[in-house]
Amino acid sequence: SRVVKLAVIPGDGIGPEVIAEAEKVLAAATAGSDIRFDKTRFELGAARYLATGDTLTDDDLDAIKAHDAILLGAVGGVPGDPRLKDANIERGLLLRLRFELDHYVNLRPARLYPGAPGPLADPGAVDFVVVREGTEGPYVGNGGSIRRGTAHEVANETSVNTAFGVERVVRYAFDLARRRDRRLTLVHKTNVLVNAGSLWQRVVGEVATQYPEVAVDYLHVDAATIFLVTNPGRFDVIVTDNLFGDILTDLAGAVTGGIGLAASGNINPDGAFPSMFEPVHGSAPDIAGQQKADPTAAILSIALLLDHLGLASEAGRVTRAVEADIGARSAAAPAAGRTTAQIGDAITARLQA
Ligand code: NAD
Ligand code: IPM
Ligand code: MN
Repeated sequence: SRVVKLAVIPGDGIGPEVIAEAEKVLAAATAGSDIRFDKTRFELGAARYLATGDTLTDDDLDAIKAHDAILLGAVGGVPGDPRLKDANIERGLLLRLRFELDHYVNLRPARLYPGAPGPLADPGAVDFVVVREGTEGPYVGNGGSIRRGTAHEVANETSVNTAFGVERVVRYAFDLARRRDRRLTLVHKTNVLVNAGSLWQRVVGEVATQYPEVAVDYLHVDAATIFLVTNPGRFDVIVTDNLFGDILTDLAGAVTGGIGLAASGNINPDGAFPSMFEPVHGSAPDIAGQQKADPTAAILSIALLLDHLGLASEAGRVTRAVEADIGARSAAAPAAGRTTAQIGDAITARLQA
């Protein structure tokens, strides 16, 4: 039998609540198969920082690296909590993991399941994937400020874009497009960000010559937000930089039934480091501890994890169980009427049936 070493980081807020349901689904989806998950729990996040002063120690990082994959709930406290200023959970923990584990593909599928409560009156079929670059862009933290706190403060964040970094993510996106509907849209802001923009455009143009079957299209990011709302069906694979991808995928989540359904994978395609699977949403302090969170995003992240591990049929079973659950969410039984655990149990029961 195959053993997969899985690092589990439940995190803060609703993180532990949705991860508990994801773990139930993982167990049910692989019951009776010859695959076994050897899980290690890592208590990381705002709560750990407040208790111990640690954000992510080198020992934590080394221990996580020794795993085959990572499942993460969400980390972070109430935005603006002054006690967390020095911890910088987002940079020191989440982004550090993405950077150190070289998660250069941040894969964020957006699919409108029948019955999902989307805000659009007539969206048509929506099924696209955002391939968000995960290790560069303005997220690198290059920059700084001088004369801080004065009327003459100068604050800079530099967006880092390397030919190597852009090419590898663009190549991944083309490969994905070739396996899907063969349409790729580059989203950037080349009319203003002329340096990074021309690098992205040049690389897409070069890689495109090796994928003649993929139709390539370009949109400025502001226009892309229009089409995500007015005609989301026009997209198949979107490839974009780290910050644009962050913003577009919250919008994509909203358009496809809410952030409670949006899953993601932080992928290291080379397999040099463990990939990490997590819902797109955060720790939602406003609803934490009340069993109000929808665990579906975390559960769909399990499907992405299984797919990544080469367990396509198990992944498909999870997706179909979610699809059936969403299809059954009606005015009579709205998601809001069920607790986090009730949704997780219902999806688990479909896998056991
Ligand atoms: P958020 O995603 O946590 O919440 C935004 C809104 O969506 C809130 O109203 C919340 O209640 C709702 N929501 C989120 N997930 C939901 C779910 N599963 N079911 C139902 N409703 C859901 O974003 P935020 O408020 O900007 O951030 C809160 C904290 O989380 C911050 O510290 C932030 O930095 C952090 N964060 C972490 C991650 C991560 O760990 N990957 C991602 C985003 C934000
Ligand atoms: C996400 C989050 C993170 C990001 C934050 C918490 C650093 O918003 O996973 O989308 O910006 O990538
Ligand atoms: Mn985000």
